[in-house]
Amino acid sequence: MADGVQVADVISTETADDIALICIDNPPVNATGHAVRIGLSSAISDINSAGKAKVIALYCAGRTFTAGADIREFGKPPKQPSLPDVLNEVERSAIPVVSVIHGTALGGGFEIALATHARVAIKGAKVGLPEVLLGLLPGAGGTQRLPRLAGLSFALDVILSGRQVPVSEALEKGVVDRVVEGAPRDVALAAARQVLDGTLTTRRTDRIEAEYDRAVLDATLEGVRRKAPHLFSPAKCVEAVAACNLPIDEGLKVERQAFLDCMETPQRAGLIHAFFGERAVSNIAEAKGPTREIAKIGVIGGGTMGSGIATSCLIAGLPVRLIEVAADGLERGVATITKNLDGAVSRGKLSSDKRDAAIAMLEPSLEMESLSDVDLVIEAVFEQMDVKKDIFGKLDAICKPGAILASNTSYLDIDEIATSTNRPGDVLGLHFFSPAHVMRLLEIVQGKHTGADVLASGFALAKRLKKVGVLAQVCDGFIGNRILAHYGLCAAYLVLDGASPQQVDRALEQFGFAMGPHKVSDLAGLDIGWMTRKRKAETRDPAQRYAGDIADKICENGWFGRKTGQGYYLYDSGAPVPNPEVAGIIDAVRAAKGITPKDFSDEDIVDRYMTAMIVEAARVVEDGTAKRPVDVDMVFLFGYGFPRFRGGPLHYADTIGAAALVERIEGYAAEDAHYWRVPDILRKMAADGSTFADLNKEG
Ligand code: 3HC
Repeated sequence: MADGVQVADVISTETADDIALICIDNPPVNATGHAVRIGLSSAISDINSAGKAKVIALYCAGRTFTAGADIREFGKPPKQPSLPDVLNEVERSAIPVVSVIHGTALGGGFEIALATHARVAIKGAKVGLPEVLLGLLPGAGGTQRLPRLAGLSFALDVILSGRQVPVSEALEKGVVDRVVEGAPRDVALAAARQVLDGTLTTRRTDRIEAEYDRAVLDATLEGVRRKAPHLFSPAKCVEAVAACNLPIDEGLKVERQAFLDCMETPQRAGLIHAFFGERAVSNIAEAKGPTREIAKIGVIGGGTMGSGIATSCLIAGLPVRLIEVAADGLERGVATITKNLDGAVSRGKLSSDKRDAAIAMLEPSLEMESLSDVDLVIEAVFEQMDVKKDIFGKLDAICKPGAILASNTSYLDIDEIATSTNRPGDVLGLHFFSPAHVMRLLEIVQGKHTGADVLASGFALAKRLKKVGVLAQVCDGFIGNRILAHYGLCAAYLVLDGASPQQVDRALEQFGFAMGPHKVSDLAGLDIGWMTRKRKAETRDPAQRYAGDIADKICENGWFGRKTGQGYYLYDSGAPVPNPEVAGIIDAVRAAKGITPKDFSDEDIVDRYMTAMIVEAARVVEDGTAKRPVDVDMVFLFGYGFPRFRGGPLHYADTIGAAALVERIEGYAAEDAHYWRVPDILRKMAADGSTFADLNKEG
């Protein structure tokens, strides 16, 4: 090709004969940041002004087509030209433009392709409009051009799900015109020639009338309000798509306004924090560097946790040797794993072939000695220090040199466990969350002596298992359960002092939690908390008000929640209904303690519960148990059902502000000065006006 011209660093153009090529090269994902927008706009206008080319082919360099708007620019003052303006220029180009999609064309990236006049995709590519997952809507023409090209129902499905559409489906729906094999530049040249010889037809979406059905739009709107009552952007997506029967300029104006409305919401900030947070947790020195090879895994314990961990490893293609002490326990473990895998198949998460391959990679054994050749052992037996130490002592003798020895303990001291071995450098905590083959969180607990390569191997394993690995230091409960213990107490105080369990659950569900804390306890089993309270009875701080009486009395009746058919709720008829006998227990406990019940508003409940969570989360950051606030946030999003649109407890704390939080805690402390204490870190932040987001930046 002759006449190579650099329009901007990230855009290059080539012209030869009748063909002009535009290449976007903005690693890592060709996001349409300011430079790309300027460059693309100039390239289109320059090629049109030169008047030499008869066709323009647009493609991207690197691993993918563009991933859309540069999300890092959101929340900052906008820089012109905007992507919608640039894409209008692309659509109005007198010279037809064909785009070539490889990798993923997402958000504004897919919208670029929609604004071009023909789309050729390279095999394996995917397209999608994931803006809704960031609290936004497609704001560069996607809500107007996709329904025109592929129909209303398909457009609504793609825009509201944010899913990545395989190119075969996109071809079937007429969104892409052709699927081919080859390198992007070669395909671009070939596609341009096909436009020239008339074998690839071009069309402008602004000249296509969208199919329109008010009933479909109404039903969709009702559906999103029912399914995602807390979310702002899904209804805005429907509102924008509903304008696709207008002339395109007017429809684009409606879309623009709806996009700007979404941009202003705290939900957008929360969801984008979640997007970057998911990546930030493993973007640390401890997760990088040399790792040990993990090709075979041993799991000790065939209970719910051990079986879930084994399932997760098998799904990731890692052979597992499952160890139990007795034949019946081993059989139960294998049955649970089989059930887990079958469930994954029926939910469409696993193919039947992969399920069969996973089963074939499972080796049940009653001999701990059979772990002599594995690269990693994950111990998942019950939470008793002497039992764990005994197992780790045996593993030290059995396992080959260099094998990693991990405990799935939720609370216990990894350093003490490691003392029972002669290789504390090989020991770490890998704390999975139940059900371990579903929940994405993995706390990677660093002991005093854990080797750097062992820790990095924990992160590599998390990635292989498609989990979000978060670094935690040793303490009772690590990051998540330690914070849970603190705000769980707050929920118990709320009930003791006047709220009903149902009111607490309702208030927090309205805040955005999928389930209130009492429903969660019923699901997990009330006996778990009962055992913990008994275990900690001797070391309980006498100055702290005891709030476990109500739960203790429920357990004394043998009511452990869902598994026994009753707990805080009754489960006879499927949907939980409040257990009327629990109200009697609550009254009796209050009377025995001389408590006159108070009225709590739903807002007060949320404020107290969230403040309690923030207080302990702040302490966890302050004492270094978590590396940064964002690590705490991701623990809660991926392990505790925290509403993603709120970004996590410490992102949420920033929306309240440290000064307001300090004032709030001091107000609560007037009632209970022992429980409510202002963490030093929060007091300092209130004084200097800093935020948890600032601490994330310091890293
Ligand atoms: N803007 C800025 N940075 C982005 C980005 C974007 N749109 N997409 C990805 N990145 C960054 C990631 O943060 C990461 O940075 P890091 O290396 O510093 O951690 C890097 O690019 C690589 O990303 P991944 O680690 O996610 O790489 P993968 O290969 O696993 O995934 C991907 C690639 C599928 C493109 C994935 O990154 C993704 O889903 N990106 C977001 C796509 C998206 O939501 N686009 C819509 C944006 S909003 C929009 O377009 C509005 C428009 O309608 C006006």
